[in-house]
Formats: sequence, structure tokens, C-alpha cells
Amino acid sequence: MKLNTYVDYAGLRLSNPIIAASSNLTKTVKRMKNLEESSIGAIIVKSLLEKKIAKKAPKPRFKIISSGIHLLKSDSLYSYEPSDWSLEKYAGEITKAKKELRIPVIASLACITDEGWMSYGKDLEEAGADAIELNFSCPVGPHISSEDDFIDRLVKIVKMLKQELYIPIIAKLTPQLTNPTYVSKNLEKAGADAVVMFNRFSGLEINIKEEKPILCGSYCGYGGAWQINHSLRWVSASFKVLDVPISGSGGVSSAEDIIKYILAGATTVQLCTLIHMKGISVIKELNKGLRRFMIDKGYSCLDDFRGKVVDDIIQPSDIDVSSNNMRARIDPDKCNSCGICEKVCMNNAIVDFQVSSKCEGCGLCAEVCANKAISMVN
Ligand SMILES: Cc1cc2nc3c(=O)[nH]c(=O)nc-3n(C[C@H](O)[C@H](O)[C@H](O)COP(=O)(O)O)c2cc1C
Ligand code: SF4
Ligand code: SF4
Repeated sequence: MKLNTYVDYAGLRLSNPIIAASSNLTKTVKRMKNLEESSIGAIIVKSLLEKKIAKKAPKPRFKIISSGIHLLKSDSLYSYEPSDWSLEKYAGEITKAKKELRIPVIASLACITDEGWMSYGKDLEEAGADAIELNFSCPVGPHISSEDDFIDRLVKIVKMLKQELYIPIIAKLTPQLTNPTYVSKNLEKAGADAVVMFNRFSGLEINIKEEKPILCGSYCGYGGAWQINHSLRWVSASFKVLDVPISGSGGVSSAEDIIKYILAGATTVQLCTLIHMKGISVIKELNKGLRRFMIDKGYSCLDDFRGKVVDDIIQPSDIDVSSNNMRARIDPDKCNSCGICEKVCMNNAIVDFQVSSKCEGCGLCAEVCANKAISMVN
């Protein structure tokens, strides 16, 4: 069977749905070309910041934060990496990229004034950008609006740009919204050609010995594999509400994660941290994994399974509780008597490695048992 991984995203045609998200990895034509050679579907160039917010990046600017306890460990890439490139330098790089690359090159813009959005937007279009992603969500920059005018402000910017520009306009959202679907629908009505769910979170890490914020001392961006569940939740909730395509972003660490985004309804999937951690060669592995999945499932194109899980997502009121008589059962052959299950059971239903009738089938003991000695049975 012939496999087709092409996607139409915001009026652009991509040979595959994997996009290099905006970061220093996409800042120069040389880096963009390396990404193209590694079979990336499109590139979002590192964000251009309006002159008054552009900043040199401090050194060092990366920290990997590991937190949590056994079984609940999580890692974050914590970083502060703004760009100080001028409009002229950035536009020059876009023009050069368009001459040297075949894949779509999408500019990324973060401004704070209406004039900035407008004039920089026009200049990037003139420089040859295939589209502009509006970075409404920079976790390290100044916030572009206060909470009470948030949607109005974003809508105004999209409308303004859509009135003046011919190229597609894509809105990149912060994960720190109460209802991203609602915000996205408003941006779609304003003319946005696609939405990106999401940028990274804005956070703070503290060195308690020094009693100071770490790295440069500012609030930083952070994200990691754990972010994907948040993004999947909102991509899936938005899939049937929005008419424009969604780019899933956040937490991709394998081909399986790309497949999950498409099953949740994403048209394209962006990645950044994974390339920072594993290098560009990972992109080929991701494409291979995606194609393998399609072959195994008998899919010929991405539309065959895009959004497939959405109809299976159940409203809380409709959750089936007919299996409420489930209970834990310990397999003595696998149990090494570590005692963890006894400690975690809130009902004290496990005594001497036997499950009593106090068990209410919550399933926690089965999850914490390292030996997989507990199964849930009817
Ligand atoms: C070091 C670094 C720099 C980033 N710079 C930008 C940026 O300039 N503009 C932007 O829109 N997003 C930026 N991002 C966010 C990524 O584009 C992406 O949305 C985010 O990291 C989530 O994807 P991931 O989990 O695959 O990293 C940056 C992320 C990292 C890790
Ligand atoms: S957690 Fe697993 S291995 Fe440990 S006592 Fe319980 S059943 Fe046995
Ligand atoms: S399933 Fe829940 S209630 Fe039952 S024994 Fe395990 S932890 Fe206790």
C-alpha cells in the first residue's frame, strides 16, 4: 500500500506532519537546512522579538530539573533563551532560507505594541515567510496583555494582521489558559488560519541553599514529556469545535507521542525539547515510527486516523460504573513481600499480603507494585 503522510496546514502543504518548533535550533539557515535534511515537514523560525523587548540570552541558560519521588519522577528542561536579533537580520535570514529550503519556513513573531505586530508582520511577509506564527505565549518575555483583556487583545492583533497580510497567520497559545478551546474559537473567528497548542509553561526554580532563583534569576520557560497529557486534552477538546487545523505541541518524546497527537485531532505536531536532548537525527526515527504505525494499522494517510479517539472521550456524567465490583488480587508467586501495597491502601484492605473485603477496587496498589504482582479482577 502507498503511504501518504502529506498534510495541509494553514494553507501550506507539508510532506509530513512533524514541525521543528521555534527555538535557537531554527534560528539560522544552516540549522534549518540540517533539519530539512533530517526530513522535518516544516520549520518555525526562532521568535523575532519587538525591539523594546529583544534581549541577549544569558549564560548558562539551560537547567534540567528532576523532581518527584520514585514512580512519580519528572524532568523539565528549564531555560531562558530570548533572541536579540534585529528585524533586518531576521528578515534577511528568512529571505535566504526561502532561497535554500524547499519546505515551508514559518516566521515567529512576538511584539508588545500594535504598531510592532503590524510593521514587523508586513516586513516578514515581504521577506518571503510562508506564514507567521504569532507567539502570544512567550514564557520568558513580558506578558502581552492583562487577564481581563486577554482574548480581546489577541483577537485585535489577529484581525489587524489578517486585514493587511496575505500569508497565513497562526496563533501559538500558552498552556496557562482556563479554556484554550474558547480562546482558539475566538481567534479562528478573527481570522487565524491555525492554532498551536501549546508553548511551554512559565515557571520558577529556587536554589534553597542560596535562597535565590536559579540561572539568570528570572522566570523561565519549562516543559518536558509530562506536558503532553495537558496538550492532548485540549487538542482533543478543540478538534470538533474548531474549523482550522491544530498543531499539537508539548512533550513529544517518541513516534508514539506524534501518533497520539494525531489521534487527538492534531494536523501537525511540533517538537523542540526532544531535538535539544537527542539531536536532529531523532526526526528520521519519528517519521519511521509514524510510517510503521500506519503500515501496521493499514492506514494510507493521516486523515484515516486523525481525531479517532475524540468520539471515545466520555463526559464525566456518562462514565460507566458497571464494573464497580473489581478488586485487587495478589499473585503470591510474583510478590516479594516488599509491603508497599499495604502502605498505600487507604482502606487497610491488604494485611499479610492478603486482600480483604475492604478493597474497593481503586487500583492504586496494582500501579505501585514494582513486581506486577497485583491484578484487578472482577
Ligand atoms: C530552549 C527553547 C527555546 C524556545 N524558544 C521559543 C521561541 O523563541 N518562540 C516560541 O514560540 N517558542 C519557543 N520555545 C517553545 C517551543 O517552540 C515549543 O513550543 C515548546 O518547547 C513545547 O514543545 P516541546 O515539548 O517539544 O519542547 C522554546 C523552547 C525551548 C526549549
Ligand atoms: S507491592 Fe507487590 S511485591 Fe510488594 S508486597 Fe505488595 S504485592 Fe507484594
Ligand atoms: S485496589 Fe485500592 S482499595 Fe483495593 S487493596 Fe488496592 S489500594 Fe486497597
